[in-house]
Amino acid sequence: AEPITFARNSRLSEYGTRPEYDSRAFEELLSWVKSVAALTKPERIHWVDGTAEERQALLDAMVDQGMLIKLNPKLRPGSYLARSDAGDVARLESRTFIASEREEDAGPTNNWTEPSVMRATLTELFDGSMRGRTMFVVPFSMGKVGGPISQLGVQITDSPYAVASIGVMTRVGSAVTELIAEGSPWVRTVHSVGAPLESGDRDVAWPSNDEKYIVHFPDTLEVFSYGSGYGGNAILAKKCYALRIASVLGRDQGWLAEHMLLIRVVSPEGRKYHVAAAFPSACGKTNLAMLRPTIPGWKVETLGDDIAWIRPGEDGRLYAINPEAGFFGVAPGTGESTNVTAVEALRENVIFTNVALTDDGDVWWEGLTDDAPEHLIDWQGNDWTPAADRPAAHPNSRFTVSAAQAPSISDDWEEAVPLDAILFGGRRASNVPLVTEAFDWNHGVFMGSTISSERTAAAEGTVGELRRDPFAMMPFCGYNMADYFGHWVEMASLAEKLPNVYQVNWFRKGDDGRFLWPGFAENSRVIEWIIRRIEGSADAVDTPIGRVPAELNTEGLDLPDADLSALFEIDPDGWLAEADLTSEFFDTFGDRVPEELRSQLAGLRDRLQTA
Ligand code: GDP
Ligand code: PGA
Ligand code: MN
Ligand code: MN
Repeated sequence: AEPITFARNSRLSEYGTRPEYDSRAFEELLSWVKSVAALTKPERIHWVDGTAEERQALLDAMVDQGMLIKLNPKLRPGSYLARSDAGDVARLESRTFIASEREEDAGPTNNWTEPSVMRATLTELFDGSMRGRTMFVVPFSMGKVGGPISQLGVQITDSPYAVASIGVMTRVGSAVTELIAEGSPWVRTVHSVGAPLESGDRDVAWPSNDEKYIVHFPDTLEVFSYGSGYGGNAILAKKCYALRIASVLGRDQGWLAEHMLLIRVVSPEGRKYHVAAAFPSACGKTNLAMLRPTIPGWKVETLGDDIAWIRPGEDGRLYAINPEAGFFGVAPGTGESTNVTAVEALRENVIFTNVALTDDGDVWWEGLTDDAPEHLIDWQGNDWTPAADRPAAHPNSRFTVSAAQAPSISDDWEEAVPLDAILFGGRRASNVPLVTEAFDWNHGVFMGSTISSERTAAAEGTVGELRRDPFAMMPFCGYNMADYFGHWVEMASLAEKLPNVYQVNWFRKGDDGRFLWPGFAENSRVIEWIIRRIEGSADAVDTPIGRVPAELNTEGLDLPDADLSALFEIDPDGWLAEADLTSEFFDTFGDRVPEELRSQLAGLRDRLQTA
């Protein structure tokens, strides 16, 4: 058979002319592109201009070369399925590095390597890494192009899958190049799948390398990613830039880059509130972002599902934007009964990764329907029937779809909104109540700093194992996390009116191992209480760990009283044990944890001991 390579024999050659600008800023971009090309030695350079024609040509070329499967256009128009290498299915925290000048700036929760040592390693890896391939230059904006909170970047990549994904997740195109040419600051990001093609080599559907590196240089605002094609490792605008690099920018410039969904809640009276919520990966952000309330009169509009950038506004409130333009969501568990909004958003123009293929050319994953089809091709390309003892879709299989396609998206979703509430959460089978209100800002920051959650399939590691994930930012904080806690404490001095803070837990289990709370759309009941608290019309009861609802709206819900009380049970011994673990966790930062949080911990212990 003919060898298939992306660069050769590609319909793309007629696209991607190099833009021309006569400016020093553009010369800088150009010389950076040339220097990366000189190192990586691609066969061709393609400047991505972001047009629909270019996107279609890219997708067509990938289908021709076996990198994507075109889904049945009658069932799933404009949609494609990618199957990754079996070893390239999630983020890799053990291969993610913060190469800051000083080790203490990376802190104990990040992998650190001295920058010059890391640069030498990367130079060796990237040397010739794009041989035989097309090197794409992708200018992107996080936040609307030219927006007041927006930031620019350029990703160089040899992965057409990454280019297609970045095209959904960010705003890509010539308008960005123009801003760069005019002198707007931008971040340099370089990605290679690390699979050079020598002439005659047969390409594979998902090129990657067993050796993987995801590296951030926060002092020089650069990202290098090698060896992986998986979204979180390859769409560098997302976790690498919008969280790890942006968190450092936020520290230095007085704002926050957070792993948060963003929604507008409209009350039955028509009042609008904005809520941001930080949950670890695969713990319910996308679902809450697309919530369709079960309680009459309430409405939720989607603004973002994974990342929020938060800045103090002129009126003294905190304003947030979703810097992304799409959703990179977990497929399994997404169905009519759990997230009908997502199901509707996924009707067309979707890139699916590692879901199962049906016999009529559509997709399926666990939870899409109650019963699995009689026959499927699983995420690894093998025959599958319901009798198989393995899932048809990978547990971290994903959809990539533009935000505008969600029926719940706000009309003004690209604008900054003032925050009324911030939620922190995670997967906790025990101990943590359904919802708890913080006494004040510092108590809320303390809550965020103490979040732990059971591991999910979104990153490597043992699923279900409890681990610390403060602010859901453990894998994404680009600097010393104790300093990050301090930055959160300091935000109080940059804003006059702060949002209320809550801890939520949709995942508490009974002794029989089932979830006590129905979750999903019923989470609107918790949102209702939170909004009524903000309005001052709902009562709360003080407990040692915070304020819980005096009453929760459970009308029309088939929830046994025993389950409701179990959802709010607070076991002082269990919480004292948590406090000991928190103390141990804080100690891993030496004396760097802010005094405000140490005294919150002491206060919590006092309250628990006298409870
Ligand atoms: P994200 O990765 O944080 O955006 O999380 P998702 O919203 O994609 O959800 C991850 C997984 O958790 C999916 O399998 C969901 O079906 C499941 N999930 C989301 N919300 C809830 C909930 O309220 N209750 C339960 N039991 N599962 C949920
Ligand atoms: P998630 O996003 O938070 O929606 O899972 C991807 C990730 O965090 O890896
Ligand atoms: Mn995420
Ligand atoms: Mn998500």
